[in-house]
Amino acid sequence: MNTMIAPSILSGDFAALGKTIEDLTHAGADLIHIDVMDGHFVPNLTIGPAVIAALRPFTTLPFDVHLMIEKPELSISDYVKAGADIVTVHAESTYHLQRLLKQIKDLGAKAGLALNPATPADMIDYVHDVLDQVLVMTVNPGFGGQAFIPATLHKIHTIREKLNSYGDRNVWLEVDGGIIPETAGLCVQAGANVLVAGSYVFRAHSLEEGIQSLRGIQAH
Ligand code: DX5
Ligand code: ZN
Repeated sequence: MNTMIAPSILSGDFAALGKTIEDLTHAGADLIHIDVMDGHFVPNLTIGPAVIAALRPFTTLPFDVHLMIEKPELSISDYVKAGADIVTVHAESTYHLQRLLKQIKDLGAKAGLALNPATPADMIDYVHDVLDQVLVMTVNPGFGGQAFIPATLHKIHTIREKLNSYGDRNVWLEVDGGIIPETAGLCVQAGANVLVAGSYVFRAHSLEEGIQSLRGIQAH
């Protein structure tokens, strides 16, 4: 499975997000990772459906929308209408996870499930048939630029084994937080195939170099 790179625009210039998305597209990104934070589920506030809709014309790449919000069931359709291709919700953010994931799929988007660092891998056992992506948070969500939490590696490995055991469905395994070449290598080795990276890509010499140096990481 090829490793895909999903740069997070959280580390981009918020006054020029359209240009940032164009630049990431030309630099070879596979997906555009969009972090939606509500100031309640996480202690930070970013953007919502109106901004995502305004950004949609700037690329044909898929929008990988990571919702870090309370009561996501109330606004899922707004994100799909705004142009989200993948909508990822947190297991910790809803009482009715299976219903919520099915709601995303019924709206025509791919359904992703995000797990905070302390949330167990077993969570996916009961919803894998309605999943297109599992997002393992490798930091506590809320901010870019945090250090990778090594204990999450075991969970990535466990989830990869579970996904393999479900057979032929192509569920993606994404990691998010503290991804730099060293941690990217460990995550790919553990079974991740989508790497979200914010600060590393935007601090690289160029966006292209940042993306390429992560894409070159292979499982040993
Ligand atoms: C954290 C976000 C991440 C963040 C990653 O809550 O979900 O997508 O932007 O940033 P880095 O790569 O800097 O850890
Ligand atoms: Zn994210």
